[in-house]
Amino acid sequence: MTVTQARGRVVSRTPVGDYHHLVIAVEGIAEHTRPGHFVALAVGGADSGMLLRRAFSIYRTSTTGRYGPTVEVVFAAHGKGTRWMADLAPEDEIDVVGPMGRPFALPKEKVACILVGGGYGSAPMFSLASALRERGSSAHFVLGAATTPRLFGVLEANRVGSSVHVTTEDGSTGTRGRVTDVLEGLVDDVEAAVVYACGPMGMLRAVADLAEDAGAWSQCVVEESMACGVGVCMTCVLPVEGEDGLVRMVRSCVEGPVFRGDRVRWDAVGTIPPGTLGAPR
Ligand SMILES: Cc1cc2nc3c(=O)[nH]c(=O)nc-3n(C[C@H](O)[C@H](O)[C@H](O)COP(=O)(O)OP(=O)(O)OC[C@H]3O[C@@H](n4cnc5c(N)ncnc54)[C@H](O)[C@@H]3O)c2cc1C
Ligand code: FES
Repeated sequence: MTVTQARGRVVSRTPVGDYHHLVIAVEGIAEHTRPGHFVALAVGGADSGMLLRRAFSIYRTSTTGRYGPTVEVVFAAHGKGTRWMADLAPEDEIDVVGPMGRPFALPKEKVACILVGGGYGSAPMFSLASALRERGSSAHFVLGAATTPRLFGVLEANRVGSSVHVTTEDGSTGTRGRVTDVLEGLVDDVEAAVVYACGPMGMLRAVADLAEDAGAWSQCVVEESMACGVGVCMTCVLPVEGEDGLVRMVRSCVEGPVFRGDRVRWDAVGTIPPGTLGAPR
């Protein structure tokens, strides 16, 4: 895979509900991006003490726009780095590394797929839906959030999805409740073969369990904290069971961020569970 580090230029930063949609003109990344890849952005400017890059799922790319190749991300301003990003304006410079990680696996056959996005976790699902539909598979969206401003991309899902279901915990849009409340019936209704998911860890675990019980594959994007982003520091590890039945601490920056949901030991994320290969005895 070709990974590029390049100086990008902000084209636009637009508030969308509770999030920001950032478009960056940058060479060398868009043409190599597949659905599920992420970028690592340097935050704080040239003299910043914030050494660690921040990871963001790639929402969209273009190779042919008037600004040259562009990469787009959607982010929530909650910590120091993302608050700095929320002040970015057109023409500001930002250092970008990407595309990073392993993208979603696409089914070889034409099958029914469900794409579940929690909050800004829907961002990588739109290019995935297009890729699935180009291959003849269906792409049914389930988008959920606590409140309406925390939903992202409902209109776009209506454009690219085979169907769209929306849930909010406060009931302000769509079905009151969580994505899993809708997913349960939908997996059976469409006879889903694959469920893709991106969002908070608790949601991923629930989606992966539900998919497995229904006999479907799941592919989950995990958002483990990352420091180096390139597989060196082991900050981003989580316990994943291999085909041989052994649990290993696996780096989500290089072996992920997309994992088979039935392989992740969700109950033990944040720990090294007993029996893990190489764990201290
Ligand atoms: C693959 C992936 C995709 C993501 N996609 C999105 C997205 O599309 N939109 C979005 O809003 N967010 C996304 N995130 C989450 C986003 O990267 C974090 O919320 C981000 O770190 C916030 O930065 P901050 O400075 O605002 O927050 P802060 O919490 O102030 O800073 C977090 C920083 O601390 C580092 N850190 C945390 N724990 C440790 C540790 N134990 N050791 C070393 N360093 C640590 C992190 O790497 C990060 O650099 C994604 C994360 C991943 C891994
Ligand atoms: S972030 Fe350093 S190994 Fe993954």
